[in-house]
Amino acid sequence: MKKILTYGFGALMVAVGLPAALNAQTISFGSPMVAGHSMVPPDTSGIPIGAPLVAPKLPETLSPMAVTGKRAFDAKCASCHGENAAGINGTAPPLIHFIYEPNHHPQIAFLSAVQKGVPAHHWSFGDMAPVKGVPPGIVKSIEAYIREVQRENGIPG
Ligand code: HEC
Repeated sequence: MKKILTYGFGALMVAVGLPAALNAQTISFGSPMVAGHSMVPPDTSGIPIGAPLVAPKLPETLSPMAVTGKRAFDAKCASCHGENAAGINGTAPPLIHFIYEPNHHPQIAFLSAVQKGVPAHHWSFGDMAPVKGVPPGIVKSIEAYIREVQRENGIPG
């Protein structure tokens, strides 16, 4: 009787690399702790459209000027720059980011951004149009607010 040899392929384990688990909470880019002044738009493709780009830590208290600034920011800027200036993927960048540390973007950048708008250059979210109805004094308080949150996140200034 002929012995029939069956080729047992065995369990050929094919290691299929699991695609990196997609975690909506994961912020794969833009940690405020990552320095970067590159003019190449940061890659935000791993983050869902509409999601925040960073997770800023908030200071326990804000100065009175920053409180005024936060109110104005929430009314005039947060629709694009997100709650706590964390950015909105596909819409506008986080301002709590090393790109916007004071040495690189001093106060004039805030005023000029609001008054003249910003041509897209650091990101791929398009231009920022000028924002009406924000007088220079209010822009200063918005900046005070952003700087206080930046400092809480280790951004020098
Ligand atoms: C309609 C959406 C929108 C609104 C509203 C908006 N921004 Fe922006 N902003 C943008 C985008 C998009 C950029 C990024 C441009 C780039 O660098 O690619 C930007 C960039 C900036 C910058 C960086 C400027 C620079 O020189 O690189 C500052 C500062 C800024 N915004 C402040 C503000 C403030 C303050 C307000 C509220 C008074 C505001 N923005 C409202 C979309 C917006």
